[in-house]
Amino acid sequence: MPVISLASPKGGAGKTTAAMLLATELSQKGLGVTVIDCDPRQWSVKWGKGGSVPEKMTIESKPTEENIIDVIDEAKSKSPFVIIDLEGTSSMLVAFAISRSDLVIIPTQAGPMEGESAADAIKLIRQQEKGMGRKIPFAVLMTRMRAAIRTKIERSLTEQLEAADIPVLSTQLTERNAFKMIFDHQCSLEELPSSTYKLDDAIANARSFAGEVISIFKAKTPKKRKQVTA
Ligand SMILES: Nc1ncnc2c1ncn2[C@@H]1O[C@H](COP(=O)(O)OP(=O)(O)OP(=O)(O)O)[C@@H](O)[C@H]1O
Ligand SMILES: [Mg+2]
Repeated sequence: MPVISLASPKGGAGKTTAAMLLATELSQKGLGVTVIDCDPRQWSVKWGKGGSVPEKMTIESKPTEENIIDVIDEAKSKSPFVIIDLEGTSSMLVAFAISRSDLVIIPTQAGPMEGESAADAIKLIRQQEKGMGRKIPFAVLMTRMRAAIRTKIERSLTEQLEAADIPVLSTQLTERNAFKMIFDHQCSLEELPSSTYKLDDAIANARSFAGEVISIFKAKTPKKRKQVTA
């Protein structure tokens, strides 16, 4: 059962937003999800107090570095998807969570110092790979992008990442008010008031993100061979 971590040592990179968009969209598709909330501000836990937690979603609060591995393993045994919203620092807890992940998503905004933060996250993943003796797949998620235009900084950052052979998700999360509103309203995008500015675009953007994540795991699952009978 895939464990997906949202990681970046940069505070405010967009980890919590991406984690909740992914969790709510997977739930909308009827898939079971456990969110492990490692953000010190416990946004997912607060979100869950609004009463809109889908039946198949569980939110685990504040794991510690002593119990994070057990919390992840327990979640894996119960839910098809485990999403870990990590804190914006490099800590033992972050390292343990990454070591248990099947995919690490690194939300990155377009800015002069953002590439460096993504590089720090990748260094930590590489260290965990060495420690665990296995590959830990990761991908950068460009977030808070402008809807209409691609700025010079955006273009140069994505070019640099691609030149360094760093996987970048083809879906980018755009800067959208609706993505902030899910936390104020404590609900999914689909439950926001229909008058919300560009709600359909926001839903399409989040669905495309969730769809791309699902497709990463589908691509890894070998198709069952058809039984050939004589
Ligand atoms: N795509 C987006 N569109 C609009 N606002 C966004 C988007 N992504 C993030 N934000 C806003 O940016 C701020 C930081 O985002 P978020 O809390 O998701 O980052 P974080 O990486 O989890 O931060 P921390 O390191 O503090 O946990 C929040 O106010 C959030 O609403
Ligand atoms: Mg956060």
